[in-house]
Amino acid sequence: KNATYILGIETSCDETAVAIVRNGTEIVANVVASQIESHKRFGGVVPEIASRHHVEQITVVLEDAMKQSELNWEDINAIAVTQGPGLVGALLIGVSAAKALAFAKQKPLVPVHHIAGHIYANRLVQELEFPLLALVVSGGHTELVLMKQHGQFELIGETRDDAAGEAYDKVARMLDMPYPGGPHIDRQAAEGKISIDFPRAWLEPDSFDFSFSGLKSAVINTIHNARQRGDRLEKADIAASFQESVVDVLTAKTRRAAELHQVKQVLVAGGVAANRGLRTALEKAFKPMGIPLLIPPVKLCTDNAAMIAAAGTIAYEQGRRAGLELNADPSLSL
Ligand code: KG4
Ligand code: ZN
Repeated sequence: KNATYILGIETSCDETAVAIVRNGTEIVANVVASQIESHKRFGGVVPEIASRHHVEQITVVLEDAMKQSELNWEDINAIAVTQGPGLVGALLIGVSAAKALAFAKQKPLVPVHHIAGHIYANRLVQELEFPLLALVVSGGHTELVLMKQHGQFELIGETRDDAAGEAYDKVARMLDMPYPGGPHIDRQAAEGKISIDFPRAWLEPDSFDFSFSGLKSAVINTIHNARQRGDRLEKADIAASFQESVVDVLTAKTRRAAELHQVKQVLVAGGVAANRGLRTALEKAFKPMGIPLLIPPVKLCTDNAAMIAAAGTIAYEQGRRAGLELNADPSLSL
């Protein structure tokens, strides 16, 4: 059987990315143009700026990826693209590029859900075994997804307000750390003491949903009060205590869901999967249970197109196709 080469395109947020993946498991090209520098001074992603960058970058990144792969267009089986969720103006650039390519090169067009992509980043590292549980934690998402087979996603829990990464970024901003704040909090947390007992939103006893807005407010109040009293602000302690709260809830709910559904693997995906506190806590939780824990390298945790091509390969093999009327869907459900 000939190899299957899928070209993936990802533009849902602030990375313009194109990648080519062989047989759904092997990266042959992976190009990511990050816009972080342009959004930094605004303390977050500015949608209009993101769209404009994508327009400028998409052809360059595409050409780079093709060159890196040393493949010809005849070798490419299909074009996979993130249809949603994400910023609509940003998504539209990727979707338009994918449609133009599908038309010009006469290739099938395969729509991919961004979260499916984050989950399938793991298949670029290790083969998936079902049933599996995936914890997706990023700037826009906090989800627990149960998969019983390839291409089938069952959402069993999600955030009711802020995403985990969003809470990290907001708290970091209050502590005058640059955007994105997650890595800074992570670093500070390693040096701080867990001295403040911040709240944990467990919600209903059987719920796998999350909530981080209460925690975020508690941290912000603590910072305000300390500043008002003129107390010295122990940033590292606040970071350590905040991180402990987030990690505690994420780990406990993931462990309970893994037990309930008797999964064979636990996958972690999304930018917050880079968090050292979370990695350590999850390893500690799952090692004694004998459940393999998969966390991709940081480069594959954050937004990239290799993960879209990996998820797109399964979708392609399962016969999912879109016509040229395909539209971006900012609130696409899994
Ligand atoms: O997956 P991603 O690159 O983009 C989205 O789809 O959102 O995730 C970015 C998020 C940001 O909120 C960033 O602060 C967070 O991931 N992040 C971290 C760490 N590295 C990135 N959060 C906590 N600890 C980290 N080490
Ligand atoms: Zn993402």
